[in-house]
Amino acid sequence: MEIKDQIAIVTGGASGLGADTVRALAAKGAKVAVLDLNEDLAKTIADEVGGIAVKVDVADTDSVAAAMATVKDKLGVARIVMNVAGIGIGRKITSRKGPHPLGDFMRVVNVNLTGTFDVCRLASTDISTLEPLNEDGERGVIVNVASIFAFDGPVGDTAYAAAKAGVAGMTLPMARDLSGYGIRVMTIAPGVFDTPLARSETGPDGFERLKSSIPFPKRAGKPSEFAQMACHIVENSMLNGEVIRLDAAFRMGMTL
Ligand SMILES: NC(=O)c1ccc[n+]([C@@H]2O[C@H](COP(=O)([O-])OP(=O)(O)OC[C@H]3O[C@@H](n4cnc5c(N)ncnc54)[C@H](O)[C@@H]3O)[C@@H](O)[C@H]2O)c1
Repeated sequence: MEIKDQIAIVTGGASGLGADTVRALAAKGAKVAVLDLNEDLAKTIADEVGGIAVKVDVADTDSVAAAMATVKDKLGVARIVMNVAGIGIGRKITSRKGPHPLGDFMRVVNVNLTGTFDVCRLASTDISTLEPLNEDGERGVIVNVASIFAFDGPVGDTAYAAAKAGVAGMTLPMARDLSGYGIRVMTIAPGVFDTPLARSETGPDGFERLKSSIPFPKRAGKPSEFAQMACHIVENSMLNGEVIRLDAAFRMGMTL
């Protein structure tokens, strides 16, 4: 699908991987809605690219429905949907502090997995009402974000790994569900990317240590490289129902 002149939604578009995805989509001519919990940052990024900012908590279905309605109202139905919003939490399932608080587990699953599913179900319903764009019958594309932790999660990341494994696991069945409507579904599983989330999760020493164990290139990924992949997925119609690791051959060890 050509990105030019399309409407796009990027959740988590106010920071890190999402913000560069907003910039890349806009640079290719899309009208972008930046959906984020952080309204001020979302507005900054949206203003930078001539898009719109909409406050959303992806873990709250009323908030998601309201945000989607606002985008439809202001821009129209988005054929490109990128679910980049996510949070992490570092906590072992049990420790001297006691059991992993169930509420923390649920919050991580609600934001990363349920929030992604919620946006997908509402967005795909809207996209299914649009006319196809080309002779393939393509109507839209959804890009979700998992993590390499979906496959090799370290100590202290059970909740995050479970949520991201859910995102990876729903890729193929969702693509199959939506194939009749000409909507593709892909997932990117990033390795280590230089963003506020990655740095806060690992701490300064941990971030440097992680970087030094990346095979090649021996550095953290740049958010612009994630955005490049996200845009390529939109543009390449043969990509569907797959999870792509974007990780410079990195495999997570036992600890962060
Ligand atoms: N940075 C990495 O190394 C890395 C690796 C693997 C996966 N990821 C995933 O990539 C995505 C983006 O991460 P990032 O590193 O850019 O993080 P980031 O913290 O820079 O950006 C995440 C954005 O999501 C928003 N957000 C958080 N909770 C939200 C909610 N409930 N509703 C709406 N917005 C919410 C935040 O406000 C923020 O703007 C996440 O899903 C993360 O799990 C990142």
